Amino acid sequence: MDIVEEYRKQAAWRSWPAIFAALPPVDGKTVLDLGCGIGDQSAELAARGACVIGLDAQDELLAAARSRGLPHAEFRHADLHRPLDPAIIADGLWASFSPAYFTDLGAALARWLPHIRPDGWIALTEIDDLFGHEPLSVRARALFDAYAADSLSAGRYDFHMGRKLRSCLERARCTVTTAFSVPDHEFSFDGPARPDVLEAWRRRFTRMTLLRDRAGSDWETIADEFLGCLQRPDHRSLCTVCFVLARKQISPRPSAGSGISQ
Ligand SMILES: C[S@@+](CC[C@H](N)C(=O)[O-])C[C@H]1O[C@@H](n2cnc3c(N)ncnc32)[C@H](O)[C@@H]1O
Repeated sequence: MDIVEEYRKQAAWRSWPAIFAALPPVDGKTVLDLGCGIGDQSAELAARGACVIGLDAQDELLAAARSRGLPHAEFRHADLHRPLDPAIIADGLWASFSPAYFTDLGAALARWLPHIRPDGWIALTEIDDLFGHEPLSVRARALFDAYAADSLSAGRYDFHMGRKLRSCLERARCTVTTAFSVPDHEFSFDGPARPDVLEAWRRRFTRMTLLRDRAGSDWETIADEFLGCLQRPDHRSLCTVCFVLARKQISPRPSAGSGISQ
């Protein structure tokens, strides 16, 4: 199964209705979908009347997004580590399951926020502690912790981004108006995983070659233990899926005659 097929399956496992219900009205607004993937959430935004500009670095995913033929959405190739097209101006910024790829999210927000109107909004959704599932042995947890630390220090991915969304937005001078976590059939659920979810985890592990390299000869044992953990009746997720909605703050105008001279 290719990555497009993998992504197609995921939408059904998420709590999108709760997240979309928290957004301000998007009808007639322009929304930037950063890390849009195959355009699932762009399609939801467009269905609610938004004009969507989806940006992503993977051409295969963009092709799948374009193939939807959405009348009010365009999908463009962009590396979000670089400055955006200066002509882009939007009312809302949506980024779901992509903020963790920006380990310095503050720097990324500093690049992205100038493209949002002064009264605009920012909606971020991200996982916190992907491998946080119980019960797991100390050895398995140590591997996942070490792998997460490697990913963060190499600037590849922050496995604990979910918990940082609010503080990153506040440091970027945004006003957080809503924050909650949602259940997720793949990441944040208790009890045994659904068979299709378990299969997706198996395939995720085949893609995670750096994790396998990190584990070395322990890999098969630890992967089996993790997949076994997800099938247990007493399985519990520590992993959460976090949503934060913020308003871009309008800088107060200096009041006339404030008497401050420089
Ligand atoms: C896990 S997927 C999430 C897709 C979709 N937003 C969703 O919620 O299902 C992360 C997406 O971020 C994109 N991405 C990661 N780093 C990126 C970068 N530097 N520039 C552009 N897109 C990036 C990936 O190509 C991928 O489509």
